[in-house]
Amino acid sequence: MAAEMAMMVKPISKFAASPTPKFPTLARPPRLSAVKMSSTAATAPPSKKGPKGAIKETLLAPRFYTTDFDEMEMLFNTEINKNLNEAEFEALLQEFKTDYNQKHFVRNNEFKEAADKLQGPLRQIFVEFLERSCTAEFSGFLLYKELGRRLKKTNPVVAEIFSLMSRDEARHAGFLNKGLSDFNLALDLGFLTKARKYTFFKPKFIFYATYLSEKIGYWRYITIYRHLKNNPEYQCYPIFKYFENWCQDENRHGDFFSALMKAQPQFLNDWKAKLWSRFFCLSVYVTMYLNDTQRTAFYEGIGLDTKEFDMHVIIETNRTTARIFPAVLDVENPEFKRKLDRMADINQKLVAIGETQDMPLVKNLKRIPLVAALANELLAAYLMPPVESGSMDFAEFEPQVVY
Ligand SMILES: [Fe+2]
Ligand SMILES: [Fe+2]
Repeated sequence: MAAEMAMMVKPISKFAASPTPKFPTLARPPRLSAVKMSSTAATAPPSKKGPKGAIKETLLAPRFYTTDFDEMEMLFNTEINKNLNEAEFEALLQEFKTDYNQKHFVRNNEFKEAADKLQGPLRQIFVEFLERSCTAEFSGFLLYKELGRRLKKTNPVVAEIFSLMSRDEARHAGFLNKGLSDFNLALDLGFLTKARKYTFFKPKFIFYATYLSEKIGYWRYITIYRHLKNNPEYQCYPIFKYFENWCQDENRHGDFFSALMKAQPQFLNDWKAKLWSRFFCLSVYVTMYLNDTQRTAFYEGIGLDTKEFDMHVIIETNRTTARIFPAVLDVENPEFKRKLDRMADINQKLVAIGETQDMPLVKNLKRIPLVAALANELLAAYLMPPVESGSMDFAEFEPQVVY
């Protein structure tokens, strides 16, 4: 594995100094969707009327997930699965019980003052950022909470870790929702729980997708944090100051999924696992790239070049992922970025068609060649020679304390 990692080129210069996460990888969104927003003051009860300012339901919108909980119970039954290293999970549980960020998410007066200073288009962009992030965090909360509940009898240790991860995600979502209150808005999370469509993934796909979602989340948060620390003139809203400790939660969550996959070697050790690993890497990276290139004003607003930021996050996430997935994409091949850029251009054209006054039929006809071109680019990116990766000896995955 080390040799494969060494073959990879360095990340983009601006971010090259970023060290690897402090927390070792023990063994990813972007996820979610439509939120009902109340434009009343935050203290008012959430409105039950129309979804004013709601996230549009698109393929790229954050998703909620559900899975086959019976199969999950089988996978984590220690009587059936002898690969489950109970000592390792017990150690992880102690780590989560330590609750490093119990007192981290405390607000101060800076939030409201900063929000009041954000006006014009940047204000709207910030609201959308908070809304999407809150929905993504809340998605994790719902999934982990249900897994914690369903696995209680089969594997109480794994179940408790899921419950403690749902604690973290609830905290993250709540903190972002408080951020929305600075803008006199609030997400109705109860409504969201019932109104959102849930995407079903088989357990093994949940593992790939959530691992990537947590790790990409880690790299996004830590990259923004380090950038704003070095460029404080762009620090326009204090939530970013919390990202350093916050992202360690995401890193721990990713490491837990790494340990889970390690206990299910059938998801990592054959040709199908390689194909699925590459598929999920591509889905997660492309979704982020297309989402972010539609929102360059946000990243430019905090002094980042959107594409440079995204490529840094993709390269770092891919390097981390290569420690556990049996194959990853060759994202450091310049051709991969060229393909992403072509997809982003096509996506912009698709968005532009959606915004015209044309009849739905005309819009759909105009979309056909673009969707075909996008599918073509996706397939070509998927078929690029992959990087063989992963490690089934897992020697470096001993749990350690972060702080
Ligand atoms: Fe989170
Ligand atoms: Fe997380």
